[in-house]
Amino acid sequence: MKIVIINGINHKGQTYTLTHKLVDKINGSVKEFFLPKDFSDYCLGCATCIFNGESNCPHHEKIKPLVDALIEADLIVLSSPVYCMHATGSMIAFLDHLGYMWMAHRPNETMFKKQAVVVTTCAGAGKKNTLKDMRDSLFYLGVPKIYELGVALMAPTLDEMKNKKKKKVEKRISKLARKIEKKNGKVKPKFKTKAFFFIMHLMQKNGYNELDKNYWNERNWTKKSRPWKNK
Ligand SMILES: Cc1cc2nc3c(=O)[nH]c(=O)nc-3n(C[C@H](O)[C@H](O)[C@H](O)COP(=O)(O)O)c2cc1C
Repeated sequence: MKIVIINGINHKGQTYTLTHKLVDKINGSVKEFFLPKDFSDYCLGCATCIFNGESNCPHHEKIKPLVDALIEADLIVLSSPVYCMHATGSMIAFLDHLGYMWMAHRPNETMFKKQAVVVTTCAGAGKKNTLKDMRDSLFYLGVPKIYELGVALMAPTLDEMKNKKKKKVEKRISKLARKIEKKNGKVKPKFKTKAFFFIMHLMQKNGYNELDKNYWNERNWTKKSRPWKNK
């Protein structure tokens, strides 16, 4: 299984440790990126990616290795600590650059067959928001199976958590790793993704963005064809 990890912070802290507790249990090859070290630009809001094509984005060359890795991967792992009740600014800045690949524009067909995990740690509060920050992007990119791994430490480190809680987390991780391995290559979109794609297909039939409209027409998605049905 090809795995890509996008870490929303440079350091190898508690969130990195939790992420690797999971990923190290999964058989596969890992590509890993750290933000902002490997990508640090803010979206400029020019909408060039949406209307003129992503290769014209001023940050295209810098973000390309990360996007290529997302497309190649069977499993996407987005990992961010909770900073001020949300994902890190670096993670959000990265995800802003993927808007053109959302189902509302030009989703990549490979996304509809992938699994993903969103990972976070916090001291006490904010894991729900942070997981949602990352989960939302994955959903709109078309990823059909998204797991959540969030831990409120209530302690300075994972190691210093209460024993009972530590064991519970370890058990959860092992179970999740087994599930991901079992489902590799077998996931399919559920009702929510299919319904959203259906609405987007109606929108693209009369779309105002030529680039998006042509993309959907070329793939026959404005008719009956669907990306998850491709061989
Ligand atoms: C700038 C900053 C903001 C934080 N905001 C929150 C917060 O809103 N809620 C919370 O429970 N913990 C918060 N924390 C604590 C971290 O989420 C927690 O220590 C986490 O485990 C750190 O993960 P890391 O070691 O991967 O950076 C914050 C920490 C920092 C440095």
